[in-house]
Amino acid sequence: PLVSMTDMLNKAKAEHYAVGQFNINNLEYTQAILQAAETEKSPVILGVSEGAARYIGGFKTVVKMVEGLMEDYKITVPVAIHLDHGSSFEKCKEAVDAGFTSVMIDASHHSFDENVEITSKVVEYAHSKGVSVEAELGTVGGQEDDVVADGVIYADPKECEELVKRTGIDCLAPALGSVHGPYKGEPNLGFKEMEEIGNTTGLPLVLHGGTGIPTKDIQRSISLGTAKINVNTENQIASTKTVREVLAADPKVYDPRKYLGPARETIKETVIGKMREFGSSQKA
Ligand code: G3H
Ligand code: ZN
Repeated sequence: PLVSMTDMLNKAKAEHYAVGQFNINNLEYTQAILQAAETEKSPVILGVSEGAARYIGGFKTVVKMVEGLMEDYKITVPVAIHLDHGSSFEKCKEAVDAGFTSVMIDASHHSFDENVEITSKVVEYAHSKGVSVEAELGTVGGQEDDVVADGVIYADPKECEELVKRTGIDCLAPALGSVHGPYKGEPNLGFKEMEEIGNTTGLPLVLHGGTGIPTKDIQRSISLGTAKINVNTENQIASTKTVREVLAADPKVYDPRKYLGPARETIKETVIGKMREFGSSQKA
């Protein structure tokens, strides 16, 4: 069933695993991620950036595509359709009105008080429709679609506590050294802050930039209250490699199903690997 993230993430935090947010880029990603979740009996979050929604057609196309696949595939595991890095109250409202079951409001580049104000407005509207809300503090490095950072700023634990109290969000993404896209060298995650933020807020924490984080850091993050981990680039790199291989092996291929089908299989395998690593398999 289509659900918000609230129950999934509270259960994950209590039972010490993390639910993966896997970003969808097109139909094949959506198919692969839903199939992986059903195969693994895992809850799953479909992350939709504003750029991906534009590419696919719009928020309504996304919702109808997901609903159609869930029916045709007879999906039984909990699935959330989540707006990733929502840029404004208006965009979040548009996603909620189209049928998204969860939204992230990323007002982290605003001043703290503005972040609180915008996030509160999103919470008030989203909760009135049973939709969950994620907010962010600090800056995730790197670039993802429209979200470009010119540096990494670690979230301040005191601000996190205050933001949670003043807004009533359901989960929090404190930026603590993670990066969108590949890492240059090993990530340097702020585990001390993560522990403090997990304890003082009591909320499930979200780790952005899940691609390239070593398993030991994933496990440590989960042990400190991280209950949602976002992955996009890893699926993009793996599936594009498959497309290159298929096309290189046979220059006469022209049917898109001949290269997008294998790419879809690669995404499914990659997502299954992540679900096992995050401990969400068999938790649906
Ligand atoms: O919001 C999406 C994620 O944070 C994805 O990060 O592309 O580095 O895996 P990633
Ligand atoms: Zn992100």
